Amino acid sequence: MSTVIPFHKPFTDSQEYQAIQQVLSGGILRGDGPVSKRVQLLMRTITGAHHAFFTTSCTHALEIAVQTLGIGPGDEVIMPSYTFVSTANAVLMHGARPVFCDVVTDTLNMDFSHAARLVTNRTKAIIPVHYAGMAVDIPAMMKFKNTYGVHIIEDAAQGADAYFKGRHLGTFGDFGCLSFHDTKNITCGEGGALLTDDPELARRAEIIREKGTNRSAFLRGEVDKYTWIDRGSSYIQSDLLAAVLEVQWEKRTTIKELRAGAWNQYHHIFEPFERSGKLKRPVVPEGAETNYHTYFITVGTAEERDMLLEAYKQAGIQASFHYIPLHNSPFGSKLHSGIPPYLPVTEQMSDRIIRLPLYPSIASEHPDFCDRVYAITASVLH
Ligand SMILES: Cc1ncc(COP(=O)(O)O)c(C=O)c1O
Repeated sequence: MSTVIPFHKPFTDSQEYQAIQQVLSGGILRGDGPVSKRVQLLMRTITGAHHAFFTTSCTHALEIAVQTLGIGPGDEVIMPSYTFVSTANAVLMHGARPVFCDVVTDTLNMDFSHAARLVTNRTKAIIPVHYAGMAVDIPAMMKFKNTYGVHIIEDAAQGADAYFKGRHLGTFGDFGCLSFHDTKNITCGEGGALLTDDPELARRAEIIREKGTNRSAFLRGEVDKYTWIDRGSSYIQSDLLAAVLEVQWEKRTTIKELRAGAWNQYHHIFEPFERSGKLKRPVVPEGAETNYHTYFITVGTAEERDMLLEAYKQAGIQASFHYIPLHNSPFGSKLHSGIPPYLPVTEQMSDRIIRLPLYPSIASEHPDFCDRVYAITASVLH
């Protein structure tokens, strides 16, 4: 068998090692040390958000956002069923109820017209997910907010260094949440960020992130002593990982360019298959500047998808399916009483999607990656 092409691979080198070594020799390993402060400033500069908190994960950033907005028992939060469990868990953790809506075919992003039909007088917020690093329909999202007066928490887990009309994803709603998990474009292994422009929300979020205390204000010299003033948890990430993250953000242009090269090669080889109706390629929405997080195709049936996945696997190409819709999952299906949600696009797309291996060094390490993917695809979808 030819060499295995992994699904993803972080783009690290000696710079990350050196950055970690510097923190170790500096002796401040805890969170919110000098490196975290620098990386938070860097994230503010890049994203344009007025406040950026480095957190232990995107999951935790979502939890802080939900708590800060006062979402709790009796409240409903609309989100796509086609998402990672964290989007829903963050809402459940605070006693509110996730309500699942459908997605649109082209981008697999939230269908705002379907979401509108799910609004009740309990709806407190929506959590749109920028799938694959491509913006949701931002004008529709802002119209939704104005029409229904709900909060917006953007799940931009996959959206680091992705934009809509020049504005970074995660900076349109009340809060935006980014992920720096190992699978993401910019990574420190595990980590996240919480973005907001609102000073009052930032003040409350800072307290929740620091175990419910005003310790951050104390460290800035704003209060004499710090004390317990809210429910909170330990959402602060170590300076060791901040050091890795700082290097990764500095490399963002290279990371994006290399990913774009591979993404565009896939787009090129799949074009004839799309022309002959065998599959669909992703559509980058007008105004969106993707970060090339994922390249995905959708084929005609679930059987075809499984055959193609198996053929890629046999050929050492680690392609993958993606989310199992939350409303049909063992836990998610217990969340609704009565008629289960009808989400036809979600169910169809999750059955038919394939994500191809994509990471910055793919073309240099496997110069024939597209030839191999093309050959397998042609052998199955002939
Ligand atoms: C849409 C979405 N939301 C949230 C998360 C959670 O991110 P983290 O692993 O940083 O908690 C992920 C992770 O893949 C994700 O894809």
